[in-house]
Amino acid sequence: MQEPRVRNGVLCESSPKITLNHFSKVSNPKSIHGIYPYRGKMSAIDAAHVISQLPSTAVLLDPFCGTGTIVYEAQAHGMRAIGVDNNPLACIIARGKTELIDAELVLDTLSSAISAAQSQTSFPRMPTAPAKFFHPDTADQIMRMVQVSTTFPSYLLSALYGAICVAARACNGWLWTSTSIGRINLPLRKIDFYSTFHRKAKKHLEFLNVGPPAQIHTYDSRQISEIIEENSIDIVYTSPPYFDALDYTGYYSKIVLEILDMDRALVRKGLIQRHSTYRKDMRRALVEIDKVIHEHSLIIFVVGDRLVHGNLIKGSEFFTEIAPWINPYVVEREYTKTASGLWDKINRTKRKEQIIVWDLAKGGRSQN
Ligand SMILES: C[S@@+](CC[C@H](N)C(=O)[O-])C[C@H]1O[C@@H](n2cnc3c(N)ncnc32)[C@H](O)[C@@H]1O
Repeated sequence: MQEPRVRNGVLCESSPKITLNHFSKVSNPKSIHGIYPYRGKMSAIDAAHVISQLPSTAVLLDPFCGTGTIVYEAQAHGMRAIGVDNNPLACIIARGKTELIDAELVLDTLSSAISAAQSQTSFPRMPTAPAKFFHPDTADQIMRMVQVSTTFPSYLLSALYGAICVAARACNGWLWTSTSIGRINLPLRKIDFYSTFHRKAKKHLEFLNVGPPAQIHTYDSRQISEIIEENSIDIVYTSPPYFDALDYTGYYSKIVLEILDMDRALVRKGLIQRHSTYRKDMRRALVEIDKVIHEHSLIIFVVGDRLVHGNLIKGSEFFTEIAPWINPYVVEREYTKTASGLWDKINRTKRKEQIIVWDLAKGGRSQN
């Protein structure tokens, strides 16, 4: 007879309450997560802390995985982790962080790619919009490198795209902060992109191959049951798109998408980020997620309060109302000294450090 709560090799009895810790910082630069500055990237320290309380035999799904912070930390904990995101650029980074690769081979590929880029005689000019952020010589080096990157493993692509972001800041005298990305600071400095890329690719290499293979799917989570088997997921842990229309194709990704000639508007169209349809879209995604979990699953959403058009929307209340599950508990903690902490103080909002947890063994599903 199957033990209570054992489904995919995990979760016996209902789980002890998840806790959040008060950490003095939210990010760890000495990790894989600094490889690319994705907008909305969550704290890996928080993710690792939550995951450390979960059984390593569980199958974990992050349906809005972005650059794979949760997927990577779950992999490092020994879990079978699956990430889904409908932003192809985010998925490349998530794959790059979690794919199992031969480090020696990566270094060989890196050296020969840099030599190949240096000897390119013809290469495309950088499109005008992103070119304004780079010294012309640096822009040419970036385009040469992009030209030879077609056979790169995802890790090297992630390092390349991360290096483009570093170069953009460096060309602008390192003056960009999270609120001033895109402000041009003349004269633009000339940066040797080959060494920037080389350093970046070497820097994060030691953090790869931390656990079992993970899967990353570029897909719309509003139809997630088309790609994930029903009843197959033990734990859903995610930081969903926010309801104040945060643009996940903006920030540094705007520059990278334009350089890669990827259709930003099209990417954006496939994401939940319109305030007017947010509720309907998110409800659809939750109903789909419900199909791939089972009656003992644990669902953890990183939520927060947001000021939208002057109205305070409480994330935990919003998700409690629309979720197809009942009796969640909410865990909160105070802010660490981050820039967003300051904004939240001004707006009297609370953000990243809140989770809402549905333990289906205790709570169950709603009737409607
Ligand atoms: C808060 S971010 C997640 C960030 C991630 N935890 C990280 O650390 O990088 C929310 C993500 O939801 C994704 N997203 C929005 N709508 C989606 C959809 N319909 N299907 C799948 N992913 C979607 C966005 O592309 C974005 O990466």
